[in-house]
Amino acid sequence: MPVSPILERQTTYPFVRLNEAARRVEAAGTRVLDFGMGDPREPTEPFIRDALVAGLRERMGYPAAVGLPELRRAIAAWAGRRFDTELDPDSEVIPTLGSKEAIFTFALAVVDADGTRDTVAYTDPGYPVYERGALFAHARPLALPLREEHGFLPELDSIDDETWSRLAVFWVNYPNNPTCGTAPLSFYERLAELAREHGFAVASDEAYTELWFDEPPASALQLADRTNVIVFNTLSKRSSMTGYRSGFAAGDPALIAALKAFRPTVGTAPQEFVQRASVAAWGDEEHVARTRGRYARKRALFLDLFERKGIRVAGSAATMYLWLAVPDGESSEGFSDRLLEHGVLVAPGSYLGAAGEGYVRVALVPSEEECADAVTILDQVL
Ligand SMILES: Cc1ncc(COP(=O)(O)O)c(C=O)c1O
Repeated sequence: MPVSPILERQTTYPFVRLNEAARRVEAAGTRVLDFGMGDPREPTEPFIRDALVAGLRERMGYPAAVGLPELRRAIAAWAGRRFDTELDPDSEVIPTLGSKEAIFTFALAVVDADGTRDTVAYTDPGYPVYERGALFAHARPLALPLREEHGFLPELDSIDDETWSRLAVFWVNYPNNPTCGTAPLSFYERLAELAREHGFAVASDEAYTELWFDEPPASALQLADRTNVIVFNTLSKRSSMTGYRSGFAAGDPALIAALKAFRPTVGTAPQEFVQRASVAAWGDEEHVARTRGRYARKRALFLDLFERKGIRVAGSAATMYLWLAVPDGESSEGFSDRLLEHGVLVAPGSYLGAAGEGYVRVALVPSEEECADAVTILDQVL
């Protein structure tokens, strides 16, 4: 059977390995509390579900890739309220099926693998999809380490002119999964300036901008000049809607035009009833504030525990994660294995990239009761 060599070279998606380990522990009789994957387990708000049901019609044709005008308007209006910026719903916004597929396929729309724009940069540790999208687009992947001493921002000064000139895409993700780092607007300003100077696209994955604790994080949508800049956002985390598959890309009209040309070949916008539910979701902030409140309570439980136990929390400013430094003398995997033996599943930082060694990620997705149970267990184990 013919199989792409790129596919054959891929290692198992790290979370598949993680889940296999959890099943083994469960089979041996230990209850596993799963802080591994970032899939929110909160129920989706009834008013969003109702909007989905009301959007069902007797016949539902193909949804056009550009999405419903109502949804593009709802997204632009949300961005206007949240980031005090103006987006033209027709030329600067396109709905996507969640953001994963849009992130994966973006390189296909912009990389010139046989020409001079053959490189895709992304940060490490990180969401694995930037690299995988680059590889399937036959691009040269460039992993840039995120170091704690640099505030988990990539060191732009370490990149040479030859590399800048070959860049097609520079992926950034703030608030960051997994380090929980945030980026000030000045970081986006500097990167956008470099993008204009060298002719690459800044792709800003902003899946976690709405999950914050003290201060709402900045967005690349706030840039005064968005030339060469595109932002990806999603309802998955903000509105606990991972199963609906609804997100958007927004930014430079030239990049949105490229996606409008590219995406109809790949697929469609979300199902129309999902788009109608999405209009309702982008239009409401109260449920998002409640969601932040729930994550804040879970976070507080763990911050208190880790402080008592002398476990250093390296990042917790935003997102649904905590990024912990593993105790001296232990590896990411060793520490995770130790916790899993007692039924607490966390993700080894090394599964999320080489620079993640020395850390583990705790996804605050179990219920508040389960979080309290995990704290009781860890109180004894740590
Ligand atoms: C950094 C980051 N970006 C994007 C996504 C994709 O989310 P979705 O495809 O559900 O919008 C995730 C999901 O975990 C993520 O962690």
